[in-house]
Amino acid sequence: MRRAGRLVAECHALVREAIKPGVTTKMLDDIVAAHIQRSGGTSPFLGYAPPGMTPYPATICTSVNEVVVHGIPGPRVLEEGDVISVDIGATLDGYVGDSAWSYPVGQIAPTARALLEVTEQCLWDALGQARAGNRLGDIGAAIQARAEQQGFGVLREFGSHGVGRRMHEDPHIPNYGKPGTGLRLRAGMTMAIEPMVTEGDYHVVELEDGWTIVTIDGKLSAHFEHTIAITPDGEPEIMTQRVE
Ligand code: MF3
Ligand code: CO
Repeated sequence: MRRAGRLVAECHALVREAIKPGVTTKMLDDIVAAHIQRSGGTSPFLGYAPPGMTPYPATICTSVNEVVVHGIPGPRVLEEGDVISVDIGATLDGYVGDSAWSYPVGQIAPTARALLEVTEQCLWDALGQARAGNRLGDIGAAIQARAEQQGFGVLREFGSHGVGRRMHEDPHIPNYGKPGTGLRLRAGMTMAIEPMVTEGDYHVVELEDGWTIVTIDGKLSAHFEHTIAITPDGEPEIMTQRVE
């Protein structure tokens, strides 16, 4: 999982470098697909098909502005002031890394900047609770408290999750909840913690393509995710730690 996570982090470094006005979301997908392939990995997103859903058609998810998650890369051209959430997974030697990050395109509005800062802080707050002996509810409560204190919303339909040999493993981890409730965390558990936060209403709608999730009010959304392991004591180990 360390190696898979490192590959995902390398992909994010390439994407971070490439994002600028004029670039299409498909170009970002191509950059990541090439890097995963030359590294001997595969994409757990490409062809991913939960029961009753059409297979996901790309390597990464590119979710711009009011798109919360699962935006499909295509001809859309990034513009100054956009916010793009890029979700990347890689399978390497049988294990999965999964990480998402929201990036500004050029200069963005003050509210947009605040949304990115708060959502990233939600992730760090959640990781601070990801300790052996704590409970799942401590993670969700930390995310919810930080987001709502700032007047932002937390998605209910999508949450964090276990990850390992497969991208989505038990348990499902809500990004909201009550402290001291839920499954107890133990050393060696590996999970993808991924707050999804909205500028306005936290309700979302799925578009006709069967994948793209947008905010119901058309306002902005942000998404930050790391794959981690619970350690015997102290802070979790971050598998998808940023690389330059
Ligand atoms: N990586 C996403 C998650 O964090 C899932 C991507 S959906 C897919 O759970 F269809 F693109 F695979
Ligand atoms: Co995930």
